[in-house]
Order: sequence, then structure tokens, then C-alpha cells
Amino acid sequence: MKPTVYITRKLPDEIIAKVEKHCDVRMWEEMDKPVPYEVLEKEIEYIDGLFCLLTESVDKALLDKAKQLKVISNMAVGYNNIDIDAAKEKGITVTNTPGVLTETTADLTFALLMTTARRLVEASDFLKNGKWQSWSPMQLTGQDIYGATIGIIGMGRIAASLAKRAKGFDMNILYYNRSRKFSLEKELSMQYTELEDLLKRSDFVCIMTPYTPDTKNMIAAKELAFMKKTAILINTARGGIVNEEDLYKALTAKSIWAAGLDVFEEEPISIYHRLLTLDNVVAVPHIGSASIKTRLKMAELAADNLLLALHNQTPKHVVV
Ligand code: DGY
Repeated sequence: MKPTVYITRKLPDEIIAKVEKHCDVRMWEEMDKPVPYEVLEKEIEYIDGLFCLLTESVDKALLDKAKQLKVISNMAVGYNNIDIDAAKEKGITVTNTPGVLTETTADLTFALLMTTARRLVEASDFLKNGKWQSWSPMQLTGQDIYGATIGIIGMGRIAASLAKRAKGFDMNILYYNRSRKFSLEKELSMQYTELEDLLKRSDFVCIMTPYTPDTKNMIAAKELAFMKKTAILINTARGGIVNEEDLYKALTAKSIWAAGLDVFEEEPISIYHRLLTLDNVVAVPHIGSASIKTRLKMAELAADNLLLALHNQTPKHVVV
């Protein structure tokens, strides 16, 4: 008998076909709307595999309902949406999709950094709204990127790729991480610093660390107060790492210069979110890995992980 799988969002046809070859597939057919928790609660009872996205909260209460679940395949590198301890305790394999999204996410992070520093969104709106009367000396002036100091918090794959882009811009690269990366330090002339030192010296502070209980609110009022008045905060990791209330205060008080945000504490945010009212915020809707090629690779890798686990083979990327 084929294993039973639930897919929590409409996927590209070729990915569904690949899974359907080996499994009985049920799927939440919507493209832009997440599956309601109550639906997932019912579905999870008798499935062998779950293919899910970062929008699904796979918590202990949900896992307690699963009678035969063998694998949860998350189509993301981050897996803070899944209760990993509960899955481990129940012997459920959890997989993720690192590697394939590294360069795409580093591209977006650097693009966000440049957009925020050079006020591209504001400048475009200024033009489109008919406000451009004349070229003027200090009009829409931003911060320099070339030769500036970038401080990277976390030094995993995506952070290392970001550092490579920064090197191309002749930036002075600082980083803070749980462990030192000696060969990268040498390759990119990168300097390890403590967090406080990084925050005080950087023109750009980029958050690239996973979201865990240890990194929740890692950047709050105290840390923001260390940053330069001209500094820019970039977050393409997870929203909960930055305290949004404190960030809002720092941005309105102009104690930091601007922020470029791809991620938020609660997603999706509403158009009434306070941070969206600020001119010195560039905000995009969690699109770090959103290139066509990369999203297809992520879906494909998540499908491979799922099928391997269901066939008692080791998936390509196992979290637990
Ligand atoms: C991830 O994979 O964790 C990103 O946030 C989405 O690609």
C-alpha cells in the first residue's frame, strides 16, 4: 500500500506528480492561503508524511494527534515553525531545505541593504508622485555602501555568501557567531567581534542567525542603543530575533537611521503595521528565497526528503 501524504499548499504540478508517483496525496488546494489549523488537525491523524511550509505551526498538540506520522518535510531552511523536541520524542523525522536557497537569499539581503541605504523605494515614490521639481544638492541622499563596515550576526551558509558580496564592495566585514570561522575570516579578511562591539562599529547590521529561544529578542532596546545614528539594520532571518516595538522606537527617535526588513514577528503583517508608516523602513514580504529557480529547487528537495524518509532511506537534510 502506498503511504499517505498531506501537502499543505498547492505546489507546482511537476512536484505534485513526483510525490503522487509514490504516495496517495491529499493537498490544501489554495495557492496564497495557508491551511487552517483545524483542517491540519484532522488531516494529520492518518497520514504517513507531511509536506509543509513555514506558515504551518506544527506544534506538540498537533503532533499528539498523529497516529502514524513518519516524516515532516519543511519547505524552508528555517524550522522554527515545528516543535522539534516533540517530533524527536515521537520518533518523527523532520527535514529542511538548506543549500539550494543560499545565494538567492544572500542576493535579496544585499539588495535590501542597498535599497535601504540609497532610499530607492522613497525615491521611486517621490518621482511617481510628481514631487520631483528639480535636482537639488541633498535631495534623497542616503548612506554609502562601498567601503562601509558591515556587521553580520550569525555566520552560516547565507551569511558567508552575504560576506562575499560585501567583499566585492570593499566593505570592512565584522561578524559575531557562536563559533569562529577561521578559514572564512582569512578568505574574506573578516574580523570576529563580540556582539556589542559589532553593533557599535557597524554601518550595516545584518541579522543572519536562526530563530531559537536563545536568539528571540536578541536585538532589543539595549542592542539598538549601541548602534550608530547613521546605521542601518537589515533582517532577512526571522522577525522574532528583533523586538519590533523597540525597533519602532529607535527608528522614530532616529537613534538608528533606517531598517530593511524581509521578516516580521507575526506574518503576514497588516498594512496598518506601525513599521510600515515609517519612511526609513523598507519592508518586503518574506521573499528572501523567492526566485523561480530557487523555489522550484526547494520544493523538489522537500519532495525528495519526504519520499526518502517514507521509503526508509536517509533524507538529504535531516533536522532530527
Ligand atoms: C527559509 O527557508 O527559512 C526562508 O525563510 C524562506 O525561504
